[in-house]
Amino acid sequence: MPELQPTMIDAKQYSQSNDASQKGIIHIINEFDEQLINISGKCMDIGCGPGDVTRNIILPALHMEATIIGTDISEDMIKYANKLYEDEKRLEFEILDIQTKNLPDKYISEFDHVFSFHTLHWCDDIRQALENIYHILRPGGTFLCAMVTSQNIFIILHKMAQDTRYASYVTKFNKFLTPFHNIPQPDKKMKKLLQSIGFVINHCSHRERTIFIKNVQKFPSAILSFVSLFLKDMPYNLLEQFKDEFTREYTRTLFGHAKLYNDEMAALDLHEILVFYAQKITKEDNERCR
Ligand SMILES: C[S@@+](CC[C@H](N)C(=O)[O-])C[C@H]1O[C@@H](n2cnc3c(N)ncnc32)[C@H](O)[C@@H]1O
Repeated sequence: MPELQPTMIDAKQYSQSNDASQKGIIHIINEFDEQLINISGKCMDIGCGPGDVTRNIILPALHMEATIIGTDISEDMIKYANKLYEDEKRLEFEILDIQTKNLPDKYISEFDHVFSFHTLHWCDDIRQALENIYHILRPGGTFLCAMVTSQNIFIILHKMAQDTRYASYVTKFNKFLTPFHNIPQPDKKMKKLLQSIGFVINHCSHRERTIFIKNVQKFPSAILSFVSLFLKDMPYNLLEQFKDEFTREYTRTLFGHAKLYNDEMAALDLHEILVFYAQKITKEDNERCR
């Protein structure tokens, strides 16, 4: 019997290797700062991971009276965040799969604002996730989101997901590529999707973004810290092989233009994202507007 994986998600490892993508979130928060500082109610950060972005980037951007619940599908991430931030009065962390078909009643119409950074592209069913977010919001509530549409990371994972050595363990039916990957004007497709659910769009843009990766060999460990969420029952040795191969491939794609920086190999990673800011209006409001 092959040895199965030990504890799957390494929240600390994620938080220690994720500074490059945190910078991208800071830019977005700064862009919407005038709206965010007026948010004083109950907020949710979906896919909060280890909670550092929730605590150090989102919370300080809001009104002093705002509170946040960080939610994540991973029990390990939530345990870590709860332990680290247990003294924070305005912050809590709970497990929630945002793609669930049975959204707990306690979340319905309870939140004034929802955030989600770098998470929705991990979902197989983005429509279900967005419908849940719509239900979580109170009428008038707003939603700020950034998700990746194209990045080397996902192209490599997609290729590996089809490799016969790994394919039977991959649980993702979309094999790591979202419906927005490499299509013309993904912002238009996203706008239509949001509107069909009932959202009004305040902002929706498709952007090319470059992040500066200080250590090309270390950065993949951020992704690898939680990738086993999508690999069920993979034997330990095979998982290690999967991680090594992913790191090698990712490093190879960046190494061509990597440069020595503070004794480490650094590079720019260009990828595409969608950023949107949407608002829930009720069906009645929607009909009144017509
Ligand atoms: C790249 S991390 C982003 C963490 C944090 N938002 C940040 O930007 O640093 C993606 C997170 O999404 C979570 N996640 C993936 N699928 C999810 C789902 N269906 N529901 C909730 N969280 C999910 C993962 O566990 C992981 O913590």
